[in-house]
Amino acid sequence: MAHQRSLPSDAATAMPVDAMAELLPDGLVVVGADQVIRFVNTEALRVLGAARDDLLGRPVREALPLADKAGHDWWAHTDPWDGLPTRTGHREKLLVGPDGRDLLVTARYARTERGGRLERVLVGLRDAQARQRAERDSATVLATVAHELRAPLTSVAGFTNSLLRRWDRFTDEQKRLMIETIQSDASRLTRLIGELLDISRLDADRLALRRGPVDLEDLLRRHVVRHELSRKGQLTLRLGRRAREEGVPELWADADRLEQVFFNLIENASLHGGGNITVTLERDGGEPAGVVVHVDDTGDGVLPEDRERVFDRFWHGADTTTTGLGLYVVRGFVEAHDGTVSVGESDSGGARFTVRLPASIPDFLPDRA
Ligand SMILES: Nc1ncnc2c1ncn2[C@@H]1O[C@H](COP(=O)(O)OP(=O)(O)OP(=O)(O)O)[C@@H](O)[C@H]1O
Ligand SMILES: [Mg+2]
Repeated sequence: MAHQRSLPSDAATAMPVDAMAELLPDGLVVVGADQVIRFVNTEALRVLGAARDDLLGRPVREALPLADKAGHDWWAHTDPWDGLPTRTGHREKLLVGPDGRDLLVTARYARTERGGRLERVLVGLRDAQARQRAERDSATVLATVAHELRAPLTSVAGFTNSLLRRWDRFTDEQKRLMIETIQSDASRLTRLIGELLDISRLDADRLALRRGPVDLEDLLRRHVVRHELSRKGQLTLRLGRRAREEGVPELWADADRLEQVFFNLIENASLHGGGNITVTLERDGGEPAGVVVHVDDTGDGVLPEDRERVFDRFWHGADTTTTGLGLYVVRGFVEAHDGTVSVGESDSGGARFTVRLPASIPDFLPDRA
């Protein structure tokens, strides 16, 4: 078995360099002047999916074959040992490692002096998958956003164009219909852009809550009135037993964000669920008490295998007419309040979305908990 030779310790920190190398977030492989691997940290083993003995004490070209995307042997191409003595290393490069793994590889050549004999080659290794996945992800987001913005914009541009060019040829009724469509597409755009901004804040962890006292019962009652006025079906607000007996605790929360949370849940219930919607507000456990809200509908419900997925951004099931951002925003806002949201089944077999919000204490008061 090959033994890992200890590197000298750093006098300033009194910590051996190999222990420090273990703390590195990246994989590190050190190759000697004889092209034999002298040191490997644990992260390198993880990235390569190799055991220490596969690498340590073995010639680097054999034990750690690297190729570029065209399949050229990277060691032959760069050749730190016989290449130009002025070379100091390599910037990050995407290479293919053993087992066809994608790796982000950097190299630093340690010489006795500038342009002198090569003593060691330090190779940095990173798993390229996570970064590639993130890049693919943001490319998908961009494509989806562009697509979502284009549909309403095309309709706004098309109808205004027709109206301007052939104003006299349309009847009043036709004009009214076109302007109504323009208005509804414009408000869809405004909402979409608002959601996208919220999402970018959520993703960047930059969502700042503007907290104040919130009477959730009052907030939900206003939704009931609005829902009735829009004649979208029936929406009932119920108070749970404990809420009736002990009252609904006042929350210290961001009213606008909670407004949007329940707007999205109620909109989903009427759009995807259908039938009658019941919102139940109950006092939750804990001291001080939090609240729990169920939004139940009488539709077909959400399949058990989709119950996590519905909260993903841009997930909209088979319905291609909606964007799939609503629940992503809901979860982001609820979690920003240290709450939770999940979906299960309502008594009628429809969907039951449950939001739990903990009691929170205004920042300016001493912590009572
Ligand atoms: N109450 C519900 N009953 C059945 N399915 C639901 C319900 N609520 C959400 N879903 C499913 O979850 C998907 C995601 O919902 P979400 O609110 O995130 O997006 P959306 O409603 O499709 O679009 P957006 O809210 O951005 O306009 C919906 O498309 C639907 O398939
Ligand atoms: Mg929705």
